[in-house]
Amino acid sequence: MCGISGAIGLKDVSNALFESIRNLEYRGYDSCGVALIEKKRLLVKKNIGEVESVYRKENILRHRSNIGIAHTRWATHGSVTKDNTHPFLSKCGKFAVVHNGIISNYRLLREQLIREGYRFHSETDSEVIPQLLSKFYAKEKNIELALRKTMNVLEGTFALAFITTYLPDHIFCAKRESPLMLGIADETKFIGSDFNSFIDFTKNAVIIEDGEYAVISKDGYIVKNSITGEEVAKTIMKIEWDSETSKKGGYPHYMLKEIYEQPQTVQNALDISEDDIADLSNMISKARQAYLVGVGTTFYVAKFGKYTLANLAGQFLPTVSSDEFMSLANVDSNDFVLAVSQSGETYDTLSALRYAKLNKCPTGAIVNVMGSTMARLVDKVILQGSGPEISVISTKAAISQMAILVRIGLHLGIKNKKISKQTYKKHMKDLRELPEIIHGILNERSGFIHRIAHRYCQVKHWLYLGRGIYYPIALESALKMKEVAYVHAEGMPGGFLKHGTLAMIDENINSIVFMPPKEDKKLYESTLHCVEEIRARSGFVLGIHFDARGKNKDLFSEELILPSVSPVVAPFLQVVIAQLLAYFTGTSLKRNVDKPRALAKSVTVG
Ligand code: AGP
Repeated sequence: MCGISGAIGLKDVSNALFESIRNLEYRGYDSCGVALIEKKRLLVKKNIGEVESVYRKENILRHRSNIGIAHTRWATHGSVTKDNTHPFLSKCGKFAVVHNGIISNYRLLREQLIREGYRFHSETDSEVIPQLLSKFYAKEKNIELALRKTMNVLEGTFALAFITTYLPDHIFCAKRESPLMLGIADETKFIGSDFNSFIDFTKNAVIIEDGEYAVISKDGYIVKNSITGEEVAKTIMKIEWDSETSKKGGYPHYMLKEIYEQPQTVQNALDISEDDIADLSNMISKARQAYLVGVGTTFYVAKFGKYTLANLAGQFLPTVSSDEFMSLANVDSNDFVLAVSQSGETYDTLSALRYAKLNKCPTGAIVNVMGSTMARLVDKVILQGSGPEISVISTKAAISQMAILVRIGLHLGIKNKKISKQTYKKHMKDLRELPEIIHGILNERSGFIHRIAHRYCQVKHWLYLGRGIYYPIALESALKMKEVAYVHAEGMPGGFLKHGTLAMIDENINSIVFMPPKEDKKLYESTLHCVEEIRARSGFVLGIHFDARGKNKDLFSEELILPSVSPVVAPFLQVVIAQLLAYFTGTSLKRNVDKPRALAKSVTVG
């Protein structure tokens, strides 16, 4: 779960690689490094820390070269040390390699190589790659053959790239499961883990598929199949994102910028064609059993989808955290698996989909990143068009996925005759007003939420409670608090409280209760019971509710009042509030908001 990049053809690639891995930092940021060919020799500069500080510490910008590769790391094998930082050099000193993925047979390969006289300087799985390249090159005297042989003995996943003084005008790269693409400009070529690595330079991309490798020079590139060695014809894809949307644009953090982009993201979700929505809804209704999968935030979004589809269409879809899917679901060609993923590269969700495909089960996905592995893997994809989400914390992508799931629920509702055309129209009208309402919330409530966050940022334990569709909202909101602020927050169905956790209520634990609009009478009243249960034990409750009558001192210890809206859009507003609360708690506690410790944006390892 790292970022790799490379550039060839510029007068000075050090600067381009700096921009490139800085744009990839959301994939990992504990250490980084660069390899260049300077005066016909390989130069490797690396250290622990974020890109900017490593570049400064190692004075990388003073080295000029027209070819180089770079890496930003999220440690999996081996702790965060300079020795474990990429690029790695081969024993012969002629190959420098960067790698993203996990080489599962590295121990075996390493022992074998040690017996053959190779020395290792890191604890990583990746370091076997340069040694293998060097070993096979010694026999074959051909770089491509050495690469193919290396790919052949590697088990596990990789996107790898290397430069070599044997052919100093070329970058070589190869892929199995971990993402890899080329950026094509006239006299400059790039490689990267995703578009963000070269979006500042070109919008033309070529996607490398599993089992392929590429040889790149400043003037051209060739992609080949690693088994047959034959050339593979490739088409150039135009990236629709523009580089400006990947920048912070005056906001202190990407997370805040992306929260403020949500009116647009929701609008983009509403602009997705009805045909696309109908396709997924038809696949669900055709299936004997349809499942929803996702992990982390997207698991909670999928859970939100579960309630939406049950409420609007009377259809129950088991919803499984992608990493557990294989242990639970026995799918075949009669079933359907719908995945939700921002990056489209998450290992656990890809594994669930690959498992479904292996069993001939149709698959679909709601994905943000065009050209991502998931977008290409499934039978039907909806590209949500939320634009680049850079902060590790998912906000705008998640809310857009929720809007798409509501649209699927409405379509299915008509199909299943659970809602009338009129109700459909009414809900669609409400949804269309959502961007404007979110806009209003952001403008009018941010200051107040900031104050609340500041007031309670020292609280060590929070319970997040919601019933019905507000239960996944509570889960997602608690996750936001954990990952942004490192504060313990436990999401729970309101009704679950009295079955154990109520015993915890005292002055050391605060609760947040996500109240439905009053119009949703049953849900409202049952949620109110949880509030009363806590208050009866003198517990603190922050109520997020839609009761415009204002302050109700007896009911809540603190309250956040939202404008009254229809039940179909109400959960969206709760999410926005919880995102802001987590964000401001994180900033009050001086957390690294966009890059929380130990996390990475796309988790491409299992
Ligand atoms: C979100 O804030 C998280 N950091 C994380 O849970 C994320 O949602 C999860 O890893 C899934 O990623 P994906 O949407 O890219 O598949």
